[in-house]
Parts: sequence; C-alpha cells; structure tokens
Amino acid sequence: VTPTIGILGAGQLGRMLALSGYPLGVKFVFVDPAPSPPAADLAPHLQLAYDDPKALQALSQCDSVTYEFENVPEATARALSGSVSVFPAPEALHVAQDRWLEKQCFAELGIPTPRSVAVDTLTEFDAAVREIGPHAVAKTRRMGYDGKGQRLIRSTRDAASAWAALGGVPLILEELVPFERELSLIAVRSSTGQIACYPLAQNEHHDGILRVTLAPAPRLTPALQLEAERYGALLLERFQYVGVLALELFQIDGRLLANEIAPRVHNSGHWTIEGAVTSQFENHLRAGLGLPLGATQATCAAGMINLIGQIPDPATILELPGAHLHLYGKTPRAGRKLGHVTLCARTAEERQQRVARLRALCDPSP
Ligand SMILES: Nc1ncnc2c1ncn2[C@@H]1O[C@H](COP(=O)(O)OP(=O)(O)O)[C@@H](O)[C@H]1O
Ligand SMILES: [Mg+2]
Repeated sequence: VTPTIGILGAGQLGRMLALSGYPLGVKFVFVDPAPSPPAADLAPHLQLAYDDPKALQALSQCDSVTYEFENVPEATARALSGSVSVFPAPEALHVAQDRWLEKQCFAELGIPTPRSVAVDTLTEFDAAVREIGPHAVAKTRRMGYDGKGQRLIRSTRDAASAWAALGGVPLILEELVPFERELSLIAVRSSTGQIACYPLAQNEHHDGILRVTLAPAPRLTPALQLEAERYGALLLERFQYVGVLALELFQIDGRLLANEIAPRVHNSGHWTIEGAVTSQFENHLRAGLGLPLGATQATCAAGMINLIGQIPDPATILELPGAHLHLYGKTPRAGRKLGHVTLCARTAEERQQRVARLRALCDPSP
C-alpha cells in the first residue's frame, strides 16, 4: 500500500519533502496557486487557491495532509482535518500564524522571549514605543516572512516611519535584542509520541533573510542543547504536535530567548539532508506516517549557504570538496531563494575554511 500525502504549498520545501519521500514509497499531491512551483517537477500539482473546494476535495482523498507553507488558511486545515489526518494539527498553525499568539504561547509555557506588546492603533503604538524603549522592532502580527513586514526602530523618527509603513493592521512592538548569535532547533514528534531533536544550528541573517547555517553550531555546549530541547519538547507536547517544528532562538549572555516557531520543515534544517543521519524532510514524513523516527545526530560539521537572487556557476561550486548543490528550479529574482549549497567538513575549522571559499563564490560583492 503506497500512502499518498497531500501537501499545501509546492515551494522548495515541498520539493525536498517529495525527494525524501520517494525512497519510502510515498506519493504526493501538491496544491499551490502559483503556475509552476518548484515541487511541480516531482508530483501532480493542482494549481488552485488553498481554499478552493476542488483542492479540499482532492486533498481529502489523501492518506494524510501536511503543509510546507505556514500561511495556508487555517479554515482549510480545519476543514480537512474533519475527513483526513492533518499534521501538524491546525492549532499549531493557528498560533504560528500570529506573532502575538506565539509570544503568549511562549509565556504560558515559561519559555523566555523578548519583551513585546500588541499594538492596533497609533495611540497604542506610541504607548508601546515608550514602554519598550528606543531600541525596538515593529512587526505585523500576521503574514510576515524573510524579514518582510518589519521595521527597526532606533529613534522617534524611525517610530513615525515604522507606523506609516506598517500601521493599520495588527502589529507587535518588540524589544530589539543585542543577541550574540541566532540559533535554531529543529525538533520532531511522531504520531506515536516519540520526540527527537537535531543539534542546534547557528544562523546568520542579512536583511531578514537566512544566509548561512552552521550545524552543529560552533561552541555548542550540552547545557545549551538541553535548554533548547526542553523548550522544544514543551512546544511539541503543548500541541500534541506531529511532524517537524522549528524554533528560532536568540542567544544572549549564555541564555536562550525564543523568537518564533515555524510549524514545518525549515530552511535552517536543510543541512540535515547530507549532514545528519536522517533528514528533517524524511523525519517529517516518518512522523506523519506513524513510523519510527530516524536518528538526528550530525554526521559531519555542516555549513549551508542559501543562493539568493543569483545562481553561481554550478561547476565552480561543485569543485569545492564536500559541496552539495540544490537548485529549486525557480526564475532568478532579487531577494529570492533559488537554491542552497551544503558542505560537509570533518571539523569546525575545516568547515570555517570551506564556508569562507563558498561565500566568496556565492556572494562576490563584499
Ligand atoms: N527582537 C529582535 N531583536 C533582534 N533582531 C531581531 C528581532 N526580531 C527579529 N530580528 C531579526 O530579524 C530576523 C527576522 O525576524 P523574524 O521575527 O524571525 O521574522 P521572519 O518571520 O521574517 O523570519 C531575525 O532572524 C533576526 O535576525
Ligand atoms: Mg524568523
């Protein structure tokens, strides 16, 4: 019996889910309103709005349904969950779609997070700027990704232009954290309750977009890993979660603050394809199918670089020892994630040298 998994969203995450599912004998159907999204090369693609009744009808015929995009309408996920098993549960989607609910969820679970205030009106915004202080970031509560829908505030003048740019929809104002580094935890829980976590990854963002991930994170201590895994487990249990959950963290003064969650496989987990015993994509599928989870240990010191806006010469990339190129089949456009390269090294030092060479190829402008 070949299970068919329906996936809402057919971007690169869907494409990599399909690539990891075929060896397990899984089939896929994708729904995505885009004309020829990355996953359409691999499996049937229904070019429909997420809430189109024809999409719901087709997906309800699948053995289970998951998402690779967190802004699918919650109502679609809820409607589907009446007729087919949907993972992760729509409740996790509900919280992850709204930064304020996310912050409240962290607070309820006792997970430290930057101070923040929900803001709907200019009066509330002005009060929030006074409360949070001069170093803050305003974010739309919903629909933000890759740093979109955010404005940094470092002065009163910034505050006025942030409101002019974002005001009118529900926002949060959050303290700007002078973090030492950004980390992320990829955690997974199966429908049988088994939990596994990958080693923490260290992430570098530019203009709100992930550029480089190093995993396991340099100078990773057991204490830091344990702290992150404790937060991960609290979140997974809270939602009786099934599948991969990503938790983005700031490290400051040796402590971790939770930034946000993503109820799906995550860009900072792409290194697991070549760098861990089992990839995040395979484990997401195993979780949803009720199969035992695969081991999450790193098998090398992995470095992952996103290819954003332009694709360097593939031959030059592949000359680098230990480099693996992934292209998503997208048309180049400024700021667009077109692919990534993961390189595997034996030691953190070797990784550092190789990543430096790779950076020079991928981002020739200093
Ligand atoms: N409170 C904050 N303090 C410092 N940097 C932040 C803060 N919030 C966001 N950032 C920076 O902006 C990036 C994107 O913000 P994030 O809240 O993760 O939104 P997105 O949904 O776009 O990923 C973060 O990875 C971090 O680099
Ligand atoms: Mg983020």
